[in-house]
This record gives sequence, C-alpha cells and structure tokens, in this order.
Amino acid sequence: MPGETITLQAGQCGNQVGLQYWNQLSSEHGIQSDGTPLSYPQDDSLRFQQQGAEESPTFNQNRGDRPELFFTVSDSNKYTPRSILIDMEPSVISKCTNQLSMFNPRNVHLSDNGSGAANNWQNGHSYGVEHQEDLLNLIDREMDKCDNLSNFQLIHSVAGGTGSGVGSLLLELLNDRFGNKKLINTFSIFPSNEKTSDVVVQPYNTVLTLKRLIDFSDSTFMFHNDAVNSIENLLLRNSTSQSDEIFESTNKLISYVSSTISNPLRFPGYMYSSTESILSTLIPTPNLKFLTTSIAPFNNSLTEYDMILELLNDKYKMNRVGSQTSYISVLNYLVGTNLDQQEIRKGIIKSQQRVEFVPWTSNSIQVVHGKKSPFLKSASKLGGIQISNNTSIIPVFSKILKQYDLLAKREAYINSYTESNDRQERLRVMDLFNECRESIANVIDEYKSCQLDNYLDDEILLEDEVM
Ligand code: GTP
Repeated sequence: MPGETITLQAGQCGNQVGLQYWNQLSSEHGIQSDGTPLSYPQDDSLRFQQQGAEESPTFNQNRGDRPELFFTVSDSNKYTPRSILIDMEPSVISKCTNQLSMFNPRNVHLSDNGSGAANNWQNGHSYGVEHQEDLLNLIDREMDKCDNLSNFQLIHSVAGGTGSGVGSLLLELLNDRFGNKKLINTFSIFPSNEKTSDVVVQPYNTVLTLKRLIDFSDSTFMFHNDAVNSIENLLLRNSTSQSDEIFESTNKLISYVSSTISNPLRFPGYMYSSTESILSTLIPTPNLKFLTTSIAPFNNSLTEYDMILELLNDKYKMNRVGSQTSYISVLNYLVGTNLDQQEIRKGIIKSQQRVEFVPWTSNSIQVVHGKKSPFLKSASKLGGIQISNNTSIIPVFSKILKQYDLLAKREAYINSYTESNDRQERLRVMDLFNECRESIANVIDEYKSCQLDNYLDDEILLEDEVM
C-alpha cells in the first residue's frame, strides 16, 4: 500500500514551483483554493472500485482517487497540503498562502530578519543549522499526521542561498534521522547557463548542494532552467521577457511533470502504485540516481504511438540532453482514458529501435497507464511524460565543474564562504569545496563506466572483494 509523501519547499524557486505544484495537485483532485473539495464524479468512483485497488484506513470509498497521500483531511472535510514552506524572506510565501489559503500557516518557517540568504549557500546552511530544532519540529508534527509515511520530497533551486543551503541542511537532517527508512526525493532546479547570471557564485552553491544530493537523496529529478525555457517556447509559444511571467509558465511545466510522476499513486491502478516501484524501475544502482524528465506536446491529434515517440525527442527534455546520450532506463507515462494498447505496443517497439541503451540493460521501455483526473475534463484527451536515467548527466555535471573550476582556481569570492580572511581558513574552505567537487567527478565517472559491458560485473566483483 502506498504511503504518504511530505513535501519540503525551500527558497524563492522552491516555493514558486511549490505553489504551481499544489495548484496542479488540487485541480486534479477537485480541491478548491481554501481546501474545500468538489464532489467526486460518481461514474469515476465506480470505475475505480471495479478495478479492485486495495483499501487503506484513510481511503474514502466515495472517491476514485487518493488525495490523502499528499493532503491531510480535517474532520470538517478540508484538505491541507502535507507541505512545509521554508524561506528566509517573506514575499514568496505570502504569495503562496494568499493564492492557496489551503496551506497550513503553522507549516511556514520564515527567518525573523527576512532578508534572504543573499544567494550564498553558506548563509542558508548556517541559518538552517541555527534553526534545525524548529525545522525538525515542523517535520515531526507533519509526520504525526501520517499513517504510513513513504517519502519526503524537496523542491528547491541548487543555485541560490536558501533552497540550496537550507535545502542541503534539510537533506542532512532527514538522512540523520531516517537513514534508509524513508525515501528522500528531490525536484532540483539548475540555473540557466544561457542567460548571463547576475549571481557569480552560483557554481559554488551548485557544487555544495550537489554534494548533499549525491550523499543523501534517493533520486533527484533534474530540471534545467534553459531546457525548460526552450520547451516553454515550443509548447506555450511564450516569449515574454518579464522574469516573473517566465518563471510562472516554466514552473507550471515543472509542476505538471512533477505531479504526473505520482499519478499512479494518486489515481491507483494495478502497477507502479508506490514511489518505491517507480524508482526501482529507473535506478539500477544507488549512484545512478539523477533523472531526466520530458513532456509531450499538448496536442489532441497525437495518438499513443505518436506520443511515445515525441517523448523521446530531446527538444522536450527538461534537462539538457545531447545526441550522444545512452539510456539506462526509460519509463513513459501515458495519461488518458481507454488507452489504445496496440498503438502503445507499436510505439514501444519503434522507440526501442531508436534508443541507445547501455549494454548491460534489457533495452526495455516501460509504460505507466496513468488515469486522467475526472476533474480536468477540458484538458487534452491524452497527456504524456517520460522519466529516464541517462548519460546526459556527464556533460551537465562537467559543465558545472568547469564553471566551478574557473572560480576556484583563483579562489574568487571565497571570502563570502569563510569565517575569516586568514590563509588557514581559506584553505580549510577550499578543501571542503574540493571534496564536493570530487564527489561530482565520481558521479561523472560512474555514468561513464555504466556505458561499459562489464559495469555490473565490476559491481559484483567489488562486493566479492569486500567479502
Ligand atoms: P536566496 O534568494 O539567496 O535567499 O535563495 P533562494 O533559494 O530563495 O534563491 P532562488 O530560489 O531565487 O535561487 C536562484 C536560482 O533559482 C536562479 O538560478 C534563478 O534563476 C532560479 N529561480 C528563482 N526563482 C525561480 C522560479 O520560480 N522558477 C525557476 N524555474 N527557477 C527559479
């Protein structure tokens, strides 16, 4: 039986994406902005019961979905996101709580001085350390409302100060407290390379955060702002230059994909009904856990076959993916009613011919049959996303290291991360930075070596050696 998910959204980006994420989830479950539910279309609940999905103590027989995995339900039947909103300045969280009054105001953590982390990982992390009691209390309180917590998910940017620094601290705290007992997944937004960044230390923040993702997350869904922006131009034909508006539609796309990932949990069927089963299909070894998503165009004339092929198209990928990419795993989600199985089979066979898999894997392309929310009658009849594990991580991480090296070789701006300006302290901090760099280089090596025939043999050999 799938368990509940608790979301942690940190920093400007984390909360802005979080806002769209909860907008998406609540519209799929017919929950209004104040948490009041619309009544569930009855024909749909019947269809659900016929499919014989299991029951849980909290499962509401009158509904065909499972919003309670992501929302708490009060005695007065009001839904509240199982989400904790964290920021060091108040404006974005105010926007969230004004737009969606369903958020629990007791789940908000704001810094007293309200000035943000000044785009500095160290500021965010130190702040998190100082306030860890409070953060853990919020998490504990939310956990007390779960019957069977399955996983935590963090939404954040890796490049600023709060989402990266407080976000890293949250990963450390969760790992300390739960180790392997709960899954920790992240929706991590990577900064644009194309737009000249006004924040010169982004590569430091990114490298410091990546180290924590490598050490403590079970899976990281990577969203590259450049890649998402270009999809946005393709799908939404939106070329507005106002940054807030750009983020709004970027965030809607990220949220659509992030929420669709849990479609089979929230609208249960026979397969992929837990986060564990989805991740075990995608992640063969713990070090290969950086995942890429894609979104199919919203177009009513696409068949299941077309959609499976569109999902392979690099231009719809939310991470930067190039032509030399090899795939470790591919999971397509097709969301709709009465899916055409023959079209799906044709699409899978065709795409298996097109995808280059790493040599030791089974070349299989999996399909999740997602259910369309009965509350979204006007949406396209068929929607699709893809999650894949692939070697595009190599150039993406290499570019991050290149940008980091440019700063680090001159110790540029390092004094924003040191406690004093003396030589010893600078060396101490550079050592810590370089440790993070090394972890990222190891992940690059892991993704390189997984392209070899004997990748798994090596793993087995290493286990034998240990014994
Ligand atoms: P401080 O501002 O230092 O307190 O940290 P923060 O975590 O609030 O920073 P922020 O989330 O703004 O992170 C900066 C990075 O995130 C930059 O690369 C921005 O381009 C990107 N970013 C900021 N807001 C958004 C957003 O709403 N959506 C997306 N996709 N990216 C964003």
